[in-house]
Amino acid sequence: MNCRDRWRVYKRVSVMFFLAAVTLTAVQRGGIHVGAPFELQRLARTDASDRVEPGAKVGFWKVKAQKAQTPTPTTQEPSITENGGTTAWDVTSSNCSANLNLSSQDWFQDLQDNVKQFMLYRHCRYFPIIHNHPETCRGDVHLLLVIKSVATQHDRREVIRKTWGKERVVGGKRVKTLFLLGKSPNLEERANHQKLVEYENYIYRDILQWDFVDTFFNLTLKETHFLKWFHTYCPSVRYVFKGDDDVFVSVENIFEFLESDNHDKNLIVGDVIFKAIPIRRIDSKYYVPQALYSKTVYPPYPGGGGFLMDANLARRLHWVTDSVELYPIDDVFMGMCLEVLQVTPVKHEAFKTFGLVKNKNSKLNREPCFFRSMIVVHKLLPAELMHMWNLVNSDLVCAQKTEIL
Ligand SMILES: *[C@@H]1O[C@H](CO)[C@@H](O)[C@H](O)[C@H]1NC(C)=O
Ligand SMILES: *[C@@H]1O[C@H](CO)[C@@H](O)[C@H](O)[C@H]1NC(C)=O
Ligand SMILES: *[C@@H]1O[C@H](CO)[C@@H](O)[C@H](O)[C@H]1NC(C)=O
Repeated sequence: MNCRDRWRVYKRVSVMFFLAAVTLTAVQRGGIHVGAPFELQRLARTDASDRVEPGAKVGFWKVKAQKAQTPTPTTQEPSITENGGTTAWDVTSSNCSANLNLSSQDWFQDLQDNVKQFMLYRHCRYFPIIHNHPETCRGDVHLLLVIKSVATQHDRREVIRKTWGKERVVGGKRVKTLFLLGKSPNLEERANHQKLVEYENYIYRDILQWDFVDTFFNLTLKETHFLKWFHTYCPSVRYVFKGDDDVFVSVENIFEFLESDNHDKNLIVGDVIFKAIPIRRIDSKYYVPQALYSKTVYPPYPGGGGFLMDANLARRLHWVTDSVELYPIDDVFMGMCLEVLQVTPVKHEAFKTFGLVKNKNSKLNREPCFFRSMIVVHKLLPAELMHMWNLVNSDLVCAQKTEIL
């Protein structure tokens, strides 16, 4: 070994160490700072953390070992025959070139860069799948939780796995969780981010990832890709909850809601926004030029922070998404597809995708007794989510269950 070879080996080993260290830190950071600044701690028993299931707090490596030993269930393959659908992800080429027809048009020149980028690739509907989990829906899955996330948000996924997204059986009904990811938009770091995602997926086997760049305007692709995926692999799932990775969710309340009434096959319920007006302020994140949408109001749509739908509707939506032009705001796009199906989403008070009350600093937004009666609350960062989860699942004394469900 000459000096240069040794240097190379040394470099490689250093990089491996660095990656391992980053992984550990990322994962441990999800590992919970309880004691966040919540006012209402006193309402809860102090040993709330006992409620975290055994195993949930063990280190990263232990979890890995446990997972590795769990044999994958060997129930029957999903039988996918209805509608002549395919049985696997059938998109293998990411070769979708920009629509250069647009470049020559005047109105196009005036658009903002991100809108231009969106328009150029608007016709590219499907991309190859990088991480797939056809096994997720095998057997009897009652409720599938799907969460939009991005490569770098390990800590959010980590906490969701330990709290509301934990795979379990509630009253005999199985709940499964999946995260939806694209590729890291950070070109320099993409390879590293991808390594971490691969590793995380290897451990938890709950990441669906596709070969498109995870940008805000590409969020709609997550919608279309998931619906296609779901149609392909999940013929027997009953309900789908779809949401963000920074929300608080009560799966128990979802079940209570579902059992409380006879819902029809077109159920889609959430924090529904009626008659929303496209934002024409050019400096807004949600700015919509006339060229993209010329009507004055949007069709009703459930806020993307979290909504619940009947799986039959999800399957029907898949067919519709192919005929509706992609729209850069994913929840509005959903509203457009629902409109085609003539399905009106239902607004429900237990879905608070804009926080409990509008005033962000209000104490109400941190009141566990409120959370206890909710289905979805936006927005909680990992440490807050963990803390609120522990409070809500402790021997919390609430004057009464708020009459919402
Ligand atoms: C990708 O698209 C380009 C231009 O349309 C074409 O020349 C090339 O052959 C395509 N590659 C594949 C692998 O399809
Ligand atoms: C661009 O224009 C040509 C000719 O009008 C058309 O055939 C083609 O489909 C257009 N490309 C896209 C991506 O719309
Ligand atoms: C969406 O993803 C595709 C594929 O990675 C990319 O070409 C396109 O630029 C992205 N669109 C936006 C608006 O970021």
